Amino acid sequence: MIPRPSSVRGTAEGTTLSDGMVVASDEASADVASLLAEELQAATGWRVALGGPGAGSSHGTVRLAVRPDPSGVPDGPSLESYRLRVSASGVEIEAPSPAGVFYGTRTLRELLPAELLRSAPTIGPPGAGARSAVAPVDVPGVEIEDGPRFAWRGIHLDVARHFFQKRFVLRLIDLASLHKLNMLHLHLTDDQGWRFQVDRYPLLTEVGAWRRESPAGHYREGRGDGTPHGGFYTKADLAEIVAYAARRFVTVVPEVDMPGHMLAAIAAYPQLGNTGRQFEVYTSWGISDHVLNLEERTVRFCTDVLDELAEICPGPYIHIGGDECPVTEWEASAAARDLAKSLGLPGPQRLQSWFSRQVAGALSAKGRVTVGWTEILEGGAPPGAVVMVWRGDDAREVAIKAAEAGHDVIMSPETWTYFDLSYSDSPAEPLAIRAGISVADVYGFEPVPAGLPPGLEGHVIGTQCQLWTEYVPTPEHAEYMYFPRVCAFSEVAWSPRDRRWDEFEPRLEAHMARLDALGVNYRPLAGPTPGQARTWSTRMGGPL
Ligand code: ACM
Repeated sequence: MIPRPSSVRGTAEGTTLSDGMVVASDEASADVASLLAEELQAATGWRVALGGPGAGSSHGTVRLAVRPDPSGVPDGPSLESYRLRVSASGVEIEAPSPAGVFYGTRTLRELLPAELLRSAPTIGPPGAGARSAVAPVDVPGVEIEDGPRFAWRGIHLDVARHFFQKRFVLRLIDLASLHKLNMLHLHLTDDQGWRFQVDRYPLLTEVGAWRRESPAGHYREGRGDGTPHGGFYTKADLAEIVAYAARRFVTVVPEVDMPGHMLAAIAAYPQLGNTGRQFEVYTSWGISDHVLNLEERTVRFCTDVLDELAEICPGPYIHIGGDECPVTEWEASAAARDLAKSLGLPGPQRLQSWFSRQVAGALSAKGRVTVGWTEILEGGAPPGAVVMVWRGDDAREVAIKAAEAGHDVIMSPETWTYFDLSYSDSPAEPLAIRAGISVADVYGFEPVPAGLPPGLEGHVIGTQCQLWTEYVPTPEHAEYMYFPRVCAFSEVAWSPRDRRWDEFEPRLEAHMARLDALGVNYRPLAGPTPGQARTWSTRMGGPL
């Protein structure tokens, strides 16, 4: 099983699931029960019935129940814990919350044959009219007690550099939640594209969602591919993603990156910029020098946009980016210099901290928690903001500084969690931004930084893996970059701290059968298949 549960004990007697099986639940777990029933019915062709707590014959019944933990009132990660027992009297999953029951059902899916992760039965009578169903399945006796190490078990997808259709985002939610990840961070805007509908500012998508072309090959080659690219989520699309995620206990964390990485918005509304010039949506990768001005109406634009986003994304967290904001335009701008002076700041480079506080204040007035990348700490992060630590060279220092200042932190250092880096420096690898993070590197990542003063561990609320998509133009390639690194990452985020690669590797090899059944385009541990390497280099002109 991946991620490895805290405790697994084999027992003598198991059970058999078969056609006519019942998923019985109490009121609190009824929705998880119906999801499990839908999944098993699709994969097996069995008639799967739903029932109340007393339903079903004992043998072959899966019982789900939310029960308060007798040891006290659980909170945080322990609320997501569960107990799973397979015995002669069927399968029982008990947890202090519906989320815990859900994670028990994810473990159950991994206890069943990998075939049962398919979308339709693969054996049984095919053809018109006949119902195709798999044979009864024996489930070995087992007692599992399990719960997550961290509350924030994140997966990030950059939909700005390349747009990913909603259908892939839904699939990613399925795959991430099977691995017990619970936060989906969508990087919705950047210099290269604006990806969600905002009623008050229609040009953000009419103009900002489309770019003329993208780099061909590595962007340092300076070649364009001549092919327009773009797309965006309507409000209904985002609402669907949020609801689909919620049913799988995944919280969507939307990001609007500001005040840098904003060229798509400035292309749509030049008055947001510092020069008044009309730019096009960025057709290169890398960081643009063109950033937001800090006029009152620009700050209002930002809070207006976040208001509309927050209406659709009800989760507690809103991400405001804040990374890599060059100050060259502010230094050259009389208005920015005057603003800094009037605020008593030593210079325009301190304006970002002031700006973040304006935006975070508006979010906090709406009851939302601001999240920002490492740089929001510079000059002081807004009170209560969560710092997502990304830079590799100073990750430890930044995490400690943030925790000491009372901020919660999420450990997302590029050195271990940036899955846009290639798996290795072999020339067989498809083109990537740079080399390289192996699956074993990911598995060896320890999120709690060494030297964190005692008592501050609680500020490390979790960890997250990132997929920036400059060099990831398709869902298939995204799956290649994520998997199997996401499998290793899921144990970093969920499982007990003691991890050994030699213990994990055979389990990962066995887990590949599940990825196969799910149709995931994962990278084999031995290296890319010829198809995986070739498809990419043909399209993008080959690795440098
Ligand atoms: C980042 O990678 N610029 C957060």
